[in-house]
Amino acid sequence: MGLFDDEIEVPENDLLEKVGKDLNEAIAIFCHRLVDKHTAEDYRGYSRPYQSTNEYLRGIYSQVDMSKYNNALTVLSSGDHVFNLLYHDVFNIDTFDCNRLTEYYALGFKLTAIKVLTFKQFEDLFADRDDYERSIEKYVINKMPFHYQLFWQRLLEKRQDIDFERPTVFDFCRDVGYDRSHHFDYSEARTRYNTLNAYRNPDGFEKVKENLKKANITFKVSDIREIPQKFGAYDFIELSNIIGVLMNWIEPELLISIIKNIYDNNLNNNGEMIFTYRYNSPTIARDEVYNEINFGHKRELSIWPDSAGSLMKKGKLK
Ligand SMILES: C[S@@+](CC[C@H](N)C(=O)[O-])C[C@H]1O[C@@H](n2cnc3c(N)ncnc32)[C@H](O)[C@@H]1O
Repeated sequence: MGLFDDEIEVPENDLLEKVGKDLNEAIAIFCHRLVDKHTAEDYRGYSRPYQSTNEYLRGIYSQVDMSKYNNALTVLSSGDHVFNLLYHDVFNIDTFDCNRLTEYYALGFKLTAIKVLTFKQFEDLFADRDDYERSIEKYVINKMPFHYQLFWQRLLEKRQDIDFERPTVFDFCRDVGYDRSHHFDYSEARTRYNTLNAYRNPDGFEKVKENLKKANITFKVSDIREIPQKFGAYDFIELSNIIGVLMNWIEPELLISIIKNIYDNNLNNNGEMIFTYRYNSPTIARDEVYNEINFGHKRELSIWPDSAGSLMKKGKLK
């Protein structure tokens, strides 16, 4: 079957036209290239979204006084940055990601799952794959806004056409730090997700579910290198580990100018931004770059177990 056979008819409507295009790209990744999801993939316009964060967001956000912040800009990724911000009562959240498929997973599937499932159902679906219930996944898909439903139903149908088993949404995701094909330990994964996220426990989950009713969340496809001078005006900005990833390909001067643009033009006075998340001990080369980033008040955030966030505050330190 050639790629052409998988083209779906693109409806007139702008939104459906976008979904049709994204779906064809997702089908190409999921159904045709059949790439091993455990091999490294570049971050680009279309790639598998992360199932869960691999950052210690619970610990890091608890070290920032979020109570005074009304709005935030964050990388979308798995959606966990958004849900951890919501846990801290930040209701207006703009998100960006260069990977268009993050929207379907994070704002379509995961966000709907939080809205319509109980905590136990959510954990069974997202962490306890031994008791994995396909009927729960189907229920969530049927509750999503129509264009997200269309995406997931069609993608899973297409994959099923060529696969022996019925696929799930998670088969399409990257796992974080676990090889599911070899001795994947779900109880370990559950503990890890619960540790990293403030909302992966009964009280936190209920709080985020409630806060979603008041939330205003947007998504823009954007590469951090091309963020326009004025993306918005934010109290809090979260860049995940994108800067660390970019450090592998671009010169320090360019990297620093990217961070400076975001800091100068998009961060409100007295606002804070996590400009990078680092794994392991930084190398000497990295230290040099981080030392050069000296246009704000810098602070290191908690380390777990071998990673840390770097925060920069704009304005006077109290
Ligand atoms: C760097 S990845 C790593 C996962 C991350 N540590 C987490 O906890 O979600 C996070 C997200 O950044 C996005 N990303 C990577 N490089 C980017 C860039 N240059 N501009 C915008 N988004 C980017 C990826 O598509 C991915 O969804």
